[in-house]
Amino acid sequence: MLAAPYCTRHPGLWKMLMVAVCVALLGCLQAQEHQGHVSVILLGATGDLARKYLWRGLFQLYLEEAGKGHSFRFHGAALTSTEQGQEVIAKILESLSCPRDMAPSRCAELKAQFQQLSEYRRLKMPEDYLALSKDIEARIQHEGLREAGRIFYFSVPPFAYADIARSINSSCRPGPGAWLRVVLEKPFGHDQRSAQQLATELGSFFQEEEMYRVDHYLGKQVVAQILPFRDQNRKALDGLWNRHHVERVEVILKETVDAEGRISFYEEYGVIRDVLQNHLTEVLMPVVMELPVNISSLEAVLEHKLQAFRALRGLQRGSAVVGQYQAYSGQARRELQKPDSFHSLTPTFAGILIHVDNLRWEGVPFILMSGKALDERVSYVRILFKNQAYCTQSEKNWVPAQSHCLPRQIVFHIGHGELGSPAVLVSRNLFRPALPSASWKEVEGRPELRLFGRPLSDYYAYSPVREQDAYATLISHIFHGQKDAFITTENLLASWGFWTPLLDSLAHEVPRLYPGGAENGHLLDFEFSGSHLAFSQPPPEQLMPGLDSTPTPSDFQVLRGKYRESPLISAWPEELIARLASDIEAAAVGAVQRFGEFHLALSGGSSPVALFQQLATGHYGFPWAHTHLWLVDERCVPLWDPESNFQGLQAHLLQHVRVPHYNVHPMPVHRHRRLCAEEDQGAQAYAEEISALVTNSSFDLVLLGMGADGHTASLFPQSPAGLDGKQLVVLTTSPSSPRRRMSLSLALINRARKVAVLVMGRMKREIAVLVSRVGREPQKWPISGVLPDSGQLVWYMDYDAFLG
Ligand code: BG6
Repeated sequence: MLAAPYCTRHPGLWKMLMVAVCVALLGCLQAQEHQGHVSVILLGATGDLARKYLWRGLFQLYLEEAGKGHSFRFHGAALTSTEQGQEVIAKILESLSCPRDMAPSRCAELKAQFQQLSEYRRLKMPEDYLALSKDIEARIQHEGLREAGRIFYFSVPPFAYADIARSINSSCRPGPGAWLRVVLEKPFGHDQRSAQQLATELGSFFQEEEMYRVDHYLGKQVVAQILPFRDQNRKALDGLWNRHHVERVEVILKETVDAEGRISFYEEYGVIRDVLQNHLTEVLMPVVMELPVNISSLEAVLEHKLQAFRALRGLQRGSAVVGQYQAYSGQARRELQKPDSFHSLTPTFAGILIHVDNLRWEGVPFILMSGKALDERVSYVRILFKNQAYCTQSEKNWVPAQSHCLPRQIVFHIGHGELGSPAVLVSRNLFRPALPSASWKEVEGRPELRLFGRPLSDYYAYSPVREQDAYATLISHIFHGQKDAFITTENLLASWGFWTPLLDSLAHEVPRLYPGGAENGHLLDFEFSGSHLAFSQPPPEQLMPGLDSTPTPSDFQVLRGKYRESPLISAWPEELIARLASDIEAAAVGAVQRFGEFHLALSGGSSPVALFQQLATGHYGFPWAHTHLWLVDERCVPLWDPESNFQGLQAHLLQHVRVPHYNVHPMPVHRHRRLCAEEDQGAQAYAEEISALVTNSSFDLVLLGMGADGHTASLFPQSPAGLDGKQLVVLTTSPSSPRRRMSLSLALINRARKVAVLVMGRMKREIAVLVSRVGREPQKWPISGVLPDSGQLVWYMDYDAFLG
């Protein structure tokens, strides 16, 4: 009333007011229109996950959304008969509770409504899905509703995915204008190939935007806070979040429970697939990735994440230590009905060392660790900063907020542990962090509590105002169509791409046994050096895995014998490598004492990697300054190519030891910008270099391997070069890519003072048996032509290769 005369005097203002009112009205109408009926179909509704978390999450969703305009129906589905299913569901629903701050009468009212809206139905055959769809449509029509969408939550084993997906796609999609959201639970494959297969299969039924792949760690409040924390504290963190300031990062998930009751799942997956490939990787990514300008942009976050995946350095066998709690094999025998002789190699503990090859993180170790049957339950990401200050004042005068000498760390405390709740901790000598004040509050002081070596009072510590279960959070995101906390197909495949080579290389690794709980002591402590990780303590003999349940010490000693009439040393891989490394060091020390120099020719490939790492990290007395390093063979690729043997040597040995540059002799495969062209005479040039520097062209030690086809160096059965004749260095052809190779010839190898042949892994078992029986037939099995003219040949074989 009062406004009218005022507005007639100001017609422009009147118009603006009208427009604003119309926009608001339209907004309301649109919002109303978007609301409608939502069907939630929980597949596997009677299973463990559903009982523990999913029904609670759905109830929480209902508590939040009831009365806001949507109508709901919750269909719990499984294969169980209707009667049994109804009974189980009724019990689960009865046990649901409301948040503590909700009035009991309101809680009772909403719970009764939720129970009414929930039903059990058996979904077994494709026609059951059609019937469900028809029921939903009939109800909607009958009640005069509009369908908003359908959520299918797959809480079923992955082998059931394809059939269910097909049925939903063909007969249970909602009508036009309504959305479909399918929620998928891990495991999403077993390795890169199976993950790709599953993704392709699901992609034939659903659009990418319809799929919500759950990693429940992304629903945890602290994990969800990492990127926003980096964003809101950009100013303080900009200069700190890099290799100049970060000493190391730890991403940890320790559990006290073991795998009992879930062995059939666990035996197939093990700790790396169960939690590292997914949960810990997803927690690592928001720490590692470059921070997008706008962290609310889904595309930008994903792009930055994928870039971070690309920067992760490939993992090697030496990047991991694995363990298994002692009771595991027994549990596996019971649950899987295996014979007494069954011993599992499945790791229940893993420590992994990751490096990120970009300017921000070059050289910073990222440690990922998880295990079952450990001494405590806790999960966190800890960023420990370097400290190069020296404080002149006595420690009792150090003030936490000012001292440069106290440790500086940021901890995203995901849950449990001594603290008992999720929290973000920032050392007071770093900066006071900004966190959204509506949802995060300062943790109350607890004078007795020490965390990560410091009293709680040394930290600015914040925890959520209201703790929320991860599944409830994710279910709410799914309902609101918010996709940022879910795993896209690209993201999933990038992660498997990173983990699969390590998983392959660990497939036959014997895990260290540990007793479980506090008794583990320091048995699982590990240390790193360069890119190599190893347990800090040698394994106690009685804990080594045996061939039967009561191993005797002699099962594990280094075995000495003969193979092809030459000395044979056989052991478990760790001991074998240690022994070979010591023998090489002894040869080096001896040669340097007598001749002033040591000429060592090394093979490439994967077997010697562990040896290189051992030499690089454990042999301080090695006379590197007087050692010449030669290549046994090389692939015809540029020396900087990752496939080059020289690159392997560089990465695993040369960069860690001080060999003078002029003592390193890569093979000249790349001359005049061409690769192994005959006319460039690279082989002759290498032979001349050897003749000029190595007395009598007789290497002090040549390290060889043996291929599954009997090849050695790059001397192959199909390619006669180098197998006879006097030529010292030859060009050859390999049956596998890259085909062109350069290699020392048998004639040159056999002039060596000592030849060591390293043979590891079950894949070599067959050839090892065969070669043990054949005579000297290098045209068929080049390795059989290795017999030094006057030097010594020693075979180093691990038990897998030797005993199978
Ligand atoms: C699951 C794994 O995904 O995560 C379990 O399958 C593991 O083995 C669990 O115990 C850990 O999750 P949380 O939330 O208990 O830390």
